[in-house]
Amino acid sequence: MYQLIDGKTTSAKIKEEIAEEVKQLIEAGGKKPHLAAVLVGHDGASETYVASKERACKFVGFNSTLVRLEDTVSEEELLQRVNELNKNEDVDGIIVQLPLPSHINEQKIIEAILPQKDVDGFHPVNVGRMVIGLPAFVSATPAGIIELLKRYNIESSGKSCAVIGRSNIVGKPMSILLSQKADFGNATVTLCHSRTPDLKEITEKADIIVAALGKAEFLTGDMVKQGAVVIDVGITRVKSDKTKSGWKLLGDVKFDEVAPKCSYITPVPGGVGPMTIVSLLKNTLLASRKEIFQ
Ligand code: GUN
Repeated sequence: MYQLIDGKTTSAKIKEEIAEEVKQLIEAGGKKPHLAAVLVGHDGASETYVASKERACKFVGFNSTLVRLEDTVSEEELLQRVNELNKNEDVDGIIVQLPLPSHINEQKIIEAILPQKDVDGFHPVNVGRMVIGLPAFVSATPAGIIELLKRYNIESSGKSCAVIGRSNIVGKPMSILLSQKADFGNATVTLCHSRTPDLKEITEKADIIVAALGKAEFLTGDMVKQGAVVIDVGITRVKSDKTKSGWKLLGDVKFDEVAPKCSYITPVPGGVGPMTIVSLLKNTLLASRKEIFQ
C-alpha cells in the first residue's frame, strides 16, 4: 500500500513554523520580512499565483507589496520599477511573476533583480552558487520537493533518480540538488527530456522519479518499478464537467495506475504545489536575515 505525500498538511505546518519565527523576530526588535511581487498584465494563472503568495505572506506575518503594471508596460519602465525595489531597504525579497509579455526580455528582468533579493532563485548568481554548493536562494519548486522528501524521511543518498523535464525552474535545479554532495542529495541522477530515447528503460529502474515535463498523465504504471517514490510536478488545467469551476488539474503522472506500485507518491493537487509557496516564504525569511550573502 502506498503512502500519500501530503503537501497541503506539510506546508500548513511549515507556515505555522515560519509564523512562529516571525513572531520571535518581531519580539526581538526585528522588522517584518517584506516580499514585493510585480505582476504584469492580467493572466489568470499569474493572478491566482500572486494572490496565493500575498495570502501566504499575510498568514505568516510578512509585509507584502504588489506592483501591478499593464501588459503594455515598456521593458525600460519595468526595469526601473525593479530598480526601485532593489533600492528600497524595507523590501527583502522581489519576485517578478512570469511569463512576461513577449516584448519584454525575461532574462534581462531576472538579471536586474539584486541577487540578494532574488527569492525566486532565478538570477544566474543564485543558480551558479547553488550549482557549486554555496548558500543560495534555490528555486521554490525543487526546494519544496527536497523539503517534502526530508519531512517524510525519504532517503536520497545512494538512490537512483530519474528527473523528467529540464526546465531552468524545476528539472535542471532538481537534478543538481538530488546529486549534490550535501546532507540531502548523493543520488545518481538521470535528467531525461524530450530527446531521451527509451525513457521507460530509465524510469523503470529509478528509486525516485520526479515528473516535471508538463504533459498530463505522461508517466504510466508500466514505466515505474514496485516501491518507487514518485513526485508529480505537473499542473495541467483541463475542462471538467464534474467540478464547480468547470476545470480540474491533472498531474504529469497517471495516478490511478502509478500509485499502487509506489511506496510514496504526491497527489495533484495537494502535493508539490502548496510546498512551492512555502519555499518562497522561507527564502524571503532568509533574505530578511541577510545570511546567504556574507
Ligand atoms: N511563474 C510560474 N512559476 C513561477 C515562479 O515560481 N516564480 C515566478 N516569478 N513566476 C512564475
